[in-house]
Amino acid sequence: LPHHSVVVAKELTSVAQALVSPRGKGIYATDESPDVVEGMLVAASLNGQENFTDQEKTDRRRKWREAAYSSLTNDHISGVILYPETLLEFKLGESLSSKGIILGVRANGELAPFPASPFEFIVQGLDDLLPRMQAARAAGARFSKWRAPIACTSPALGLPSQVSLEVQAETMAIFASVSQQAGLVPIIEPDIEFSADADLYRSVEIHQKIIRMTYARCLDHGVFLEGTLIKPSFPQPGLKHPTRKTTTSEDIALATATVLANSVPTSVPGVVFLSGGLEPAVAMKHLSALNALVNKAKPGSPFARLPPLSFSYGRALQGEAMKHWVRGDIQAMKNAFDQATKGCFMAARGEY
Ligand code: 13P
Repeated sequence: LPHHSVVVAKELTSVAQALVSPRGKGIYATDESPDVVEGMLVAASLNGQENFTDQEKTDRRRKWREAAYSSLTNDHISGVILYPETLLEFKLGESLSSKGIILGVRANGELAPFPASPFEFIVQGLDDLLPRMQAARAAGARFSKWRAPIACTSPALGLPSQVSLEVQAETMAIFASVSQQAGLVPIIEPDIEFSADADLYRSVEIHQKIIRMTYARCLDHGVFLEGTLIKPSFPQPGLKHPTRKTTTSEDIALATATVLANSVPTSVPGVVFLSGGLEPAVAMKHLSALNALVNKAKPGSPFARLPPLSFSYGRALQGEAMKHWVRGDIQAMKNAFDQATKGCFMAARGEY
């Protein structure tokens, strides 16, 4: 594209491809905000109630990140998404990049409710995005991620609203273009919620809609798609829909492959799913069933044309490990990380 130099375009392309190759490798997402990490650590601890000062919380957060990163190798993990504090203040990037792991940074800020639709959210962080992405690049980051939460209910309850989809699509496209301007591969993350009463068809419909709308806006913003990735949720029935319990990983695999074939342009070099709070084994089973389905697609068929389908899991990768860490059992923590990263790797090859 006219405004991307050949040198920049080549680098963006090679970073995007490296994040999903060789087949099976994927991303560990550790970009939770401090409050969220604190909540997770408290939930994982034995007594569930701790009174730490802010300084103690910061120290504990840094130690958890250090322990987690020291457990990783690049056998199964291609990249790690860091919270800006971890990259710029704790300066833990080098401990990963020295192992051949590519650094990413969380780009989106916090959420603010839509005034007209209090169950939907505007994602903040566009105003100062360029300098923040430039600072992350200078600190070693080569990719970035922007999460856009999308409500999803039955049509009767009426979410998401059209205006929220338009805002999220436009915001993700602006993010992607600015991230590339700073030399970072953007990962757009449309995260369709599954806490409500939508059935699988409704979830498919909303996934397809927001993904298509986002790529349409990317086109107008001149985003170089070969130098991007997408991080979607798995389409699935909501927790309040009766079919939630009877829907199999194979059903979800078919729904997911259908969504991707219908909405992701073929120039996008990879898809890395979020786990969204699913049980780790479930997140791995869905990904494995999806890859198994695609692996057996006939050459030339729509599913056979899909790019590598891998993971960018947070909770599904670290949940077990964190429980051991808060109890001080470092060896068990490392074993849990090994098991989770290997499981995700196998799932991304359709072999879990
Ligand atoms: P989960 O896999 O825990 O959903 O985390 C991925 C992520 O980055 C969510 O924004």
